[in-house]
Amino acid sequence: MTDTKKTAQLSLNGETYELPIFSPTTGPDVLDIRKLYGQAGVFTYDPGFTSTASCDSTITYIDGGKGELLHRGYPIDQLASKSHHLEVCYLLLYGELPTAAQLEDFETRVTRHTMVHEQMHNFFRGFRRDAHPMATLVGVVGAMSAFYHDSTDINDPWQREVAAIRLIAKLPTIAAMAYKYSIGQPFVYPRNDLDYAANFLHMCFSVPAEEYHVDPILARAMDRIFILHADHEQNASTSTVRLASSSGANPFACIAAGIACLWGPAHGGANQACLEMLKEIGSVDRIPEFIERAKDKNDPFRLMGFGHRVYKNTDPRATVLKQSADEVLELLGVENNPLLQVAKELEQTALNDEYFIEKKLFPNVDFYSGIILEAMGFPTSMFTPIFALSRTVGWISQWKEMIADPQNKIGRPRQLYLGETARDYIDIESR
Ligand code: SDX
Repeated sequence: MTDTKKTAQLSLNGETYELPIFSPTTGPDVLDIRKLYGQAGVFTYDPGFTSTASCDSTITYIDGGKGELLHRGYPIDQLASKSHHLEVCYLLLYGELPTAAQLEDFETRVTRHTMVHEQMHNFFRGFRRDAHPMATLVGVVGAMSAFYHDSTDINDPWQREVAAIRLIAKLPTIAAMAYKYSIGQPFVYPRNDLDYAANFLHMCFSVPAEEYHVDPILARAMDRIFILHADHEQNASTSTVRLASSSGANPFACIAAGIACLWGPAHGGANQACLEMLKEIGSVDRIPEFIERAKDKNDPFRLMGFGHRVYKNTDPRATVLKQSADEVLELLGVENNPLLQVAKELEQTALNDEYFIEKKLFPNVDFYSGIILEAMGFPTSMFTPIFALSRTVGWISQWKEMIADPQNKIGRPRQLYLGETARDYIDIESR
């Protein structure tokens, strides 16, 4: 960041305080308030972090007004059409697109870490079969700290690198195992002759009883979904990973915390909630009823897959996913899927409705992803685990960046206290 030497003046209780202003490469300036409490004895107040930068970062940039998303400067639509997930993983982790040799080495390292410790198979058997795969994912990823002791020391650069590779490599295996376990089928081992996305489809959909051939177009669609979910600035789950990491917790525990946060329907759980909403709407003639419910302040119903804290224009990922939905459903011969028709009509109705226009509510990444995933054969319960395995590289890249930051310190927000002042204990006889 650039110290502009400019300052903002804060006048308070007859005093004037100078707040340094920093300028980013692109985006809004920031006011440095790190010394504010020490100088002025006041806190700032921003419960949802709507106006607060928690860190500086060079990984991802979103222009919410333009609907632009850059990963290390590269626009998401170009990466989605020209790159593939492991190349985007390299870009997010190391900052530049790899040479052919660098990419081959990276892909080999990831491929050779896709199997999990055989004891983890037993660990899975402790869960109920009908557990939500996200519950299993949180538990098993957290338990990786118990299986991979040799990559938990965050002060050892080699161990940090191994932990990053292990997490990127093993999350698809663990997510596929969570799926297989939930449907009572045997776990399927990864194969080193398949690429990242094809391997995931193989581990989810192949069975020992017959040959399984991955459709390359479905593998491409799967890989594109991974790319589109890879990273997204300081969203709730990434901020959770950063805060957990700030205490020095090991990377597996921190990623498990991120998975837990992502599960919420306001965040990564929205893809499952959105598809369930489309099914509840059922047909285009019921759309007006649900639009009215979404606008009704007394109704907690929200249009899932719509709205975003940062995007006040269409989420560029939704644009790519909408195109991908058309391609995949046509390939599968289900282009007349009623859910896709409902989604498209719902989108047009909302985009032309004064409420959504005034509040700048547009489709986000979760609006179309579920339609594609369901058409590919995944149950709704697997939508957020797929988001989690995709976002693992973003969480880990942000984690690496934070750990390497010499200014890194434990996150410890303050509060606006509205409770009781000190008072004496009252014996129960006197209450
Ligand atoms: C993700 O942060 C990220 O980057 C997240 C993510 C990532 O890649 O990591 O992009 C992934 O989480 C995408 C968002 C998925 N969630 C949903 O689709 C759930 C539905 N959307 C909303 O819950 C909501 O839009 C949020 C949570 C996404 C954003 O909420 P904000 O920024 O806190 O906005 P808000 O709740 O203050 O809403 C502003 C206004 C409110 O009305 P008023 O109180 O001002 O009158 O818009 C209304 C809201 O009631 N509103 C909606 C709405 N979203 C917001 N009204 C109806 N339907 C909606 N979907």
